[in-house]
Amino acid sequence: MTENREHWGSRFGFILAAAGSAIGLGNIWKFPHMAGQHGGAAFTLVYLICIIVVGLPILLAEFAIGRRTQLNPVGAFKALSGNSQWKWVGLLGLGAAFVILSFYSVVGGWTLKYTYLALTGAFSTFSSENNVAAQVFNNFISDPIQPIFWHVLFMGLCILIINKGVKGGIERWSKILMPLLLVLLLVLVVRGVTLEGAGEGLRFLFAPKWGDLDAEGVILALGHSFFTISLGMGTMITYGSYLRRDTDLLRAALSVIVLDTVIALLAGVAIFTAVFALGQDPAEGPGLIFVVLPTLFPLMPGGAVFGVLFFFLLFVAALTSAISILEVVTAYFIDEKGWSRSRATVTFGTIIAAVGVFASLSLGDFNVLAPLGDLTFFDMLDGLSSKYLLPIGGLLTAIFVMKRWGLTNFMEELQAGSAWFKLPQRLVWGFFLVAGLVVAYILFDEVLGILV
Ligand code: PHE
Repeated sequence: MTENREHWGSRFGFILAAAGSAIGLGNIWKFPHMAGQHGGAAFTLVYLICIIVVGLPILLAEFAIGRRTQLNPVGAFKALSGNSQWKWVGLLGLGAAFVILSFYSVVGGWTLKYTYLALTGAFSTFSSENNVAAQVFNNFISDPIQPIFWHVLFMGLCILIINKGVKGGIERWSKILMPLLLVLLLVLVVRGVTLEGAGEGLRFLFAPKWGDLDAEGVILALGHSFFTISLGMGTMITYGSYLRRDTDLLRAALSVIVLDTVIALLAGVAIFTAVFALGQDPAEGPGLIFVVLPTLFPLMPGGAVFGVLFFFLLFVAALTSAISILEVVTAYFIDEKGWSRSRATVTFGTIIAAVGVFASLSLGDFNVLAPLGDLTFFDMLDGLSSKYLLPIGGLLTAIFVMKRWGLTNFMEELQAGSAWFKLPQRLVWGFFLVAGLVVAYILFDEVLGILV
């Protein structure tokens, strides 16, 4: 264990930072629009089952691997496997970090732009009849300059925070930003449920109609459970590596999962109550929050203020997730290559920002993938990461614990710092097996779907 490794200042700080990583665009942007398109409550239930069955064991595995080794994902797999090829699982995670952050920070930039639009009162000119909001959104994201400006600003903020280190940067900001997020969201939920006709939105989100759930919805719900808890690319290994051995990993993992789920559901309540109360379409798709909500805010009493709150909240959530992705890359170059923190952060933050420029341009007239068909570079980065890289990384992590590191070693790490009764090893083994099988099934189904 390295003596001079940075550590979290407190257990609470660690939980907020890990929750800050988990809670992001996945909860507030992706979850509501996917639920809206794939059967509402039925989708929500499948997603919840996946979080427990797949998310919990893999989150525990990542925390344990990180804390045991006190290393970045590549170093961690190397250390626990006797320098074997398992290091590739860590490298795959590093690749995923590049892929995810380069499109994630583009959307992070959109949240900044929409906070600015809300502040300047621009939403008051939006009305649902002539689709002004949709035009504004589409013109903005396809513009060659504007979204890049906001994207670069967003990445700049990430670099600044990561540069400050674990305790002074990530933990400090998570402790300020995460409670703020919860408060803002609660305000919006109260606003939503007190709108006339809100009940229909609640029924849509919580009363399942199984007929509405399609096969694609099941697959998406499974894949999303990885994305939303930041699993499968070593983020939670990295955050676990800044822990001392006195933290109860099971309690921390349960806290992160509960917080992440509660925030996704609260976001769902805030959004669908408003969508239904004001007669909008829940299946609008990825534009749900950028197109539908700005149209709704001017129609609500106090909407100008709620508009600012909502987009600022989304920006906060995106920022605390984005920094956790950049930290994976930073930790690797510090631990394995001996780089300074600032050199690693600035270099790779800049490279990722540059890739992101192409992701953003691909939504307008310059798509590097154009010769291959309709797919944009932006969508490719998104699909590649949540459909393949994260589930593959998660599956390999589960296999690693069962086959290479060994369940006994894993259990020993899990119990350290735990005040809980001893979990039976067989039960834990069963959980890992089921998690592995479920993920293997999703991947198989996906690949089969492409081949036939
Ligand atoms: N969990 C984050 C979200 O829901 C995204 C993320 C994915 C962060 C993978 C880190 C690693 O928005």
